Amino acid sequence: MEMTGRFVILASLLALALAAPHDGDHMGHTPEHFHHMHHGPEEIHSHQGEDICLKLSAPNAKFAFALYKSMSAKLAATKNIFYSPLGISSALSMLSVGAGGDTHSQLFASLGYGAGKLTQMQVDQAYEHLIHMLSHDKETQQLELGNAMALASDFKPVDKFVSDIKHYYGGESFNVDFTKSAEAVATINEFIAKKTMDKIKDQVKELDADTAMVLINYVFFRGAWVDPFETTRTDKSDFQVNETTKVTVDMMKRTGRFDVYQDQDNHTLVIMLPYKGSTSMMIVLPDEGKMKEVEAYISSDYIRHWHDSLFRSSVDLFLPKFNISVESSLDAILKEMGIINAFGDTADFSGISETKLKVSKVSHKAVLSVDEKGTEAAAATTIQIMPMSLPITMELNRPFLVFIVENTTKSILFMGRISDPTAA
Ligand SMILES: *[C@@H]1O[C@H](CO)[C@@H](O)[C@H](O)[C@H]1NC(C)=O
Ligand SMILES: *[C@@H]1O[C@H](CO)[C@@H](O)[C@H](O)[C@H]1NC(C)=O
Ligand SMILES: *[C@@H]1O[C@H](CO)[C@@H](O)[C@H](O)[C@H]1NC(C)=O
Ligand SMILES: *[C@@H]1O[C@H](CO)[C@@H](O)[C@H](O)[C@H]1NC(C)=O
Repeated sequence: MEMTGRFVILASLLALALAAPHDGDHMGHTPEHFHHMHHGPEEIHSHQGEDICLKLSAPNAKFAFALYKSMSAKLAATKNIFYSPLGISSALSMLSVGAGGDTHSQLFASLGYGAGKLTQMQVDQAYEHLIHMLSHDKETQQLELGNAMALASDFKPVDKFVSDIKHYYGGESFNVDFTKSAEAVATINEFIAKKTMDKIKDQVKELDADTAMVLINYVFFRGAWVDPFETTRTDKSDFQVNETTKVTVDMMKRTGRFDVYQDQDNHTLVIMLPYKGSTSMMIVLPDEGKMKEVEAYISSDYIRHWHDSLFRSSVDLFLPKFNISVESSLDAILKEMGIINAFGDTADFSGISETKLKVSKVSHKAVLSVDEKGTEAAAATTIQIMPMSLPITMELNRPFLVFIVENTTKSILFMGRISDPTAA
């Protein structure tokens, strides 16, 4: 099937290793105990549908920006940042299904679900609905949030964990022999490649022989612009990475009516580029030399303010065409954000197994392609009546921020900073 426009993909991985490979130590909690701890009194089986799924929206957005601040603090300004906050939140939520004690409360606090805001059961039900809602509109967009577990052949997780992951997170499971490292890596990479339409092929480089389980999350999105760019108007143009470095990009051009907002006080120009379906790309262009300032203040509140302030205007838009692929190792960042016990010998994953487990690795990869929109659109010419006002010029010829947001679930599917559109 020939699809148009732009697509985005992500896969994040959590590898769980045996904390103490040679002692079949018990944690002191039986699976039954664990079950009561998390799903006991407030177990609700009602299906509040969209409402419950929207409960994730605010905490997930907060988490997304906290992650951004950590990542940007660690990277040079010329490096691209790109990740799926929703993918990472859902992978960690899946992990928290099996966590107990401080391990669980640290995960919940960092995700923004803690302090009694949400129970694990509410989170699980919310993801169940969210996953269902995202995959709903297959006609106009391809959007898939999926999860899976690769299990060591001789590792038997608690039944309830396996069934919860399957039921709430749609997580299929398969067996892998981690003692044959190359084979295990190949099997997991094949699985991810299949789920991401070959966009992510080599996410895993190596796995330790004592790996018990790998949790896999992927988000696949492929969308077509509602209003495509005309390929004939795309030209070579300069993109200023920083004061001293300039690269050449294929700059797409489109003059049309867009939802925009110029936030002069806060030095930014904001535009919404809708995809067919329920997803849009929000682009935030800081004024020249103001990226650092914008990165310092940006938060989910600003995104909401901008979103609520948008107005229709004619715009001369210049947007570079690009493909970027960004790999992030999240271990240090997540620890910085307060998820500490999960990585150490005091980790409590008694809900997964009586064997001592800890998280050994969290890796994430996201790919973003932006182009005119391809074949389908070329045939359809869109003519727009322009009002007689001077168009706003928005020239994305210097670093900018992108957010790919889904409207029905109010989720940030992907976000990042495009500092250099030509970096691989
Ligand atoms: C601009 O970017 C280049 C390439 O990443 C880097 O070597 C250089 O130090 C940067 N210059 C400034 C002023 O930040
Ligand atoms: C700048 O941001 C603040 C905080 O969100 C907001 O109150 C203010 O209205 C913004 N300025 C403009 C012109 O939108
Ligand atoms: C992006 O990648 C696609 C194939 O995945 C390729 O057709 C396209 O030319 C690339 N675009 C740029 C700007 O490199
Ligand atoms: C987003 O959803 C709201 C209702 O939830 C609807 O009013 C609005 O038109 C939608 N916007 C887009 C861009 O689909």
